[in-house]
Amino acid sequence: MESYETRGLAPDAEGMRAAAEVLRAGGLVAFPTETVYGLGADARNGIAVARVYAAKGRPAFNPLIVHVASLEAARGIAEFGAEAERLAGAFWPGPLTLVLPVREESGLSPLVTAGLRTVAVRVPAHPLARALLEEAGCPVAAPSANPSGRLSPTTAAHVIEGLCGRIEAVLDGGPCEVGLESTIVAPGPPPRLLRPGGLPAEAIEACLGVPLLRAGVEGGVEAPGQLQSHYAPGAGLRLEADGPGPGERMLGFGDVAGELNLSPSGDLTEAAAHLFDYLRRLDDGKGGAIAVAPIPERGLGRAINDRLRRAAAPRPDQA
Ligand code: TXA
Ligand code: MG
Repeated sequence: MESYETRGLAPDAEGMRAAAEVLRAGGLVAFPTETVYGLGADARNGIAVARVYAAKGRPAFNPLIVHVASLEAARGIAEFGAEAERLAGAFWPGPLTLVLPVREESGLSPLVTAGLRTVAVRVPAHPLARALLEEAGCPVAAPSANPSGRLSPTTAAHVIEGLCGRIEAVLDGGPCEVGLESTIVAPGPPPRLLRPGGLPAEAIEACLGVPLLRAGVEGGVEAPGQLQSHYAPGAGLRLEADGPGPGERMLGFGDVAGELNLSPSGDLTEAAAHLFDYLRRLDDGKGGAIAVAPIPERGLGRAINDRLRRAAAPRPDQA
């Protein structure tokens, strides 16, 4: 693979222009969104998109999310039914991805959808992401900016750790506010939850007035990226722990103390924002397995538990 001198770009007008130029020239730029850092490429440029798969070491069957600056731009690449309009109206810009029929004239590289007839789209809320999308003037395909199978990055330093030398630039916007990837929904009818994430499923159900069908329960795995072991720190993980076992490092929550605590006050929003960063810190190669305190299964807690269960699952490479 070709090697690049990965540039760190400041979150100012100059950095933004440089980032947009790289994208327009078919290069790769990691940029902050409110959920996690994305690894961006011009979604119409097949070679640029192929480089995203190569940089991540990602299986080619796993399609990418297309990021656009506005609902109007999204309507240009995907078909919006009444439910999709309703969800976009309520939650965009924000941590919600909609899987919709792709328009024939979308102009997207077929590599983005990995040959599916649907496309995953979202309008991110982060001001830098929005400014970059506007400045670049193209739909931007962006998976999380981490090597395939590793934790998603929530700071520019995380991105550098995983992808330095493989991409042209990182736009540094500081830590991500939400800290969990977007919630992915196929609006239907019937509406289906394909991946729990930064927007609680309860909020979506309240908006639509009907319960979401859960992938894997009613319909099998539908987001192809939902491999069981996905968010994988190097150390093993033990869940629902009330304290550390011998040699273990403890990740606390609420009253269950630990070397690091996701949220001493038991706040799930704060816990989500800290999750990937704290897992990385405890996965520094100096200790044994990571024991994690129980997290309540409601609101963002469901998405946190989803990520933790995947991180704890046996790895294909270790099986
Ligand atoms: O918050 C996020 O969603 C971040 C930021 C950068 O926007 N992006 C992200 O992308 O998490 P990624 O590639 O790591 O995860 C995208 C997920 C994968 O599980 C993929 O299989 C699913 O979206 N996906 C993409 N297109 C799809 C489609 N047409 N149908 C079903 N699932 C799809
Ligand atoms: Mg990812």
